[in-house]
Amino acid sequence: MISSLRGMNDILSEDYERFTYFINTATEIAGKYGFHFIETPLLEETALFKRSVGESSDIVGKEMYQFIDKGQNDVCLRPEGTAGVVRAFIQKKLDRAGGIHKFFYHGAMFRYERPQKGRLRQFHQFGVESFGVQSVYEDATMIMMVSDILGACGIGYRLQLNSLGDSNCMPPYRDSLVSFIESCEDEICEDCLRRKSTNPIRVLDCKNSTCQALYENAPKLIHNLCSTCQDDFEKLKKILQDNGIAYEINTNLVRGLDYYSKSAFEFISDNIGSQSAIAGGGRYDRLVEFLDGKATPAVGFAMGIERLMELIQMPEVKREGYYIGAMDDEAVDLVMSLAHRKRKTDKTTIDYKARNLKSHLKAADKVNARYCAVIGENELENNTVWVKDLENKTETTLKLESF
Ligand code: HAM
Repeated sequence: MISSLRGMNDILSEDYERFTYFINTATEIAGKYGFHFIETPLLEETALFKRSVGESSDIVGKEMYQFIDKGQNDVCLRPEGTAGVVRAFIQKKLDRAGGIHKFFYHGAMFRYERPQKGRLRQFHQFGVESFGVQSVYEDATMIMMVSDILGACGIGYRLQLNSLGDSNCMPPYRDSLVSFIESCEDEICEDCLRRKSTNPIRVLDCKNSTCQALYENAPKLIHNLCSTCQDDFEKLKKILQDNGIAYEINTNLVRGLDYYSKSAFEFISDNIGSQSAIAGGGRYDRLVEFLDGKATPAVGFAMGIERLMELIQMPEVKREGYYIGAMDDEAVDLVMSLAHRKRKTDKTTIDYKARNLKSHLKAADKVNARYCAVIGENELENNTVWVKDLENKTETTLKLESF
């Protein structure tokens, strides 16, 4: 038997219902916020992710599904959605057009990680990207949107916030962090030693407990922000407070992708185990220019759908549509025609085999039909159909024309 690859799941039955319920809910909310759907390819040039997510990140450095295609192109399955949307934004010359452009997307992402609960190699994100708005109000709007989507699905969360500064305050901070790392170089892990030269900020995110204890004393960027970044961060916190969105400051929140500046945020669930980040995002004002577009401020987020699945509170399922069955072989053709007619307006399930009433009622209940309609010998003779309303428990016999 051939099984699916490790860390790659099928989504069907009850899971699929949850999955589509989430996407529909999030899509409706994204619409209310004025976002439009965008679909980008699953396969992109590897260079796109190297230049955006960054070569020093684990995602690009260790986790890409990368290969040379038959045309000798270096390509990879997208590990995330932002880079492709930015590429499309530039390719369609929307950066040159100016104005505000807001997109949402959902689809599969691929990261060759060590699979465990909540960590897959093929997983799905719902994400949004907003281009052209510099104001920190837009950062707050992103957070409100995640909060609304989670709220609509009955999911509780903790919101963590940080500011990663901008090109004014980040470089001097990076220098002081490097000096700090050098002061404890003998005690830190191999990975952090490497990070010191590739992307020193990453050390703050190290999972090694010795490193974590050491970095408690490291300089914090939010204490070294320039006045613009500081003002924006204060404003962001105030907007969230004014709107009843609780947050925690996490000075070690650096995100796993290199393109962020200023606001960075993660939504955490305490009910799903160690892979607890259910959404993450932030501002990435330099990325469009970095990918050869015209400098455009941007901010966005993505939610990990698989991590949300078990948390989603599904609405009560209502009985819906018709189940039509024959109690006589002669009636099967008629059942088929009735179903063809009914499906123009209602969900309709049928059975191709003649069975007794009890079996049909049981089958109608199983598919959660509102009405169970059957045609037997009597009904055939009288051109009628017997119908039971499975919600109100009432029964009637109707003329075929009025069914
Ligand atoms: P990210 O934090 O790498 O951000 O991923 C967003 C979410 O995807 C995570 O919070 C998590 O729920 C889910 N996720 C990530 N990796 C896995 C995995 N291996 N298995 C299951 N779920 C996973 C981004 O991808 C950015 N593009 C978000 C963004 C959009 N920033 C700005 N715009």
